[in-house]
Amino acid sequence: MAKAVFPGTFDPPTNGHLDIIARASAAFGEVIVAAGVNQSKSRLFDPDERIAMLTELAEPFPNVRIGTFDGLLVDYCRAEGAGVIVKGLRSAADYDYELQMAQLNHAMTGVDTMFLPTRSENAFISSSWVKEIARLGGDVAAFVPPRVHARLLEKL
Ligand code: PNS
Repeated sequence: MAKAVFPGTFDPPTNGHLDIIARASAAFGEVIVAAGVNQSKSRLFDPDERIAMLTELAEPFPNVRIGTFDGLLVDYCRAEGAGVIVKGLRSAADYDYELQMAQLNHAMTGVDTMFLPTRSENAFISSSWVKEIARLGGDVAAFVPPRVHARLLEKL
């Protein structure tokens, strides 16, 4: 069965990410959840923390492992022997943005992208908004897995 890469920043992972991990795990033989660790961008959680959170979330799924990449996603996919990129789509805005990346990634190396529609209960969740709400004292417990919530509270 196909090997897929589910890439993202995961700063932090949300319920939406966890849902995509679970569904990709069921659809593909092997899934690598790959955290982009580009140093030029400022993050709330450093790469080790994001990897630790993702490792905890992936525990129930034996065919899922965690990786990191710091260059072109297509190069990472090639190095891992993965022929498919998996992305979650929340909205038409996501689609417009993701379609271009999917087409560029395919044009560069032939790697294909498969989109999974986000479940409606997760469609409005993003890591960026979760961070902002949490920073400003809002309750984000409904938007992230409990262990991520605990780390957010510790961090902020
Ligand atoms: O969770 P995000 O922030 O939406 O993830 C974006 C990510 C890391 C998947 C995307 O920025 C990416 O693929 N970066 C790697 C660099 C790359 O390959 N750029 C060319 C894209 S066509």
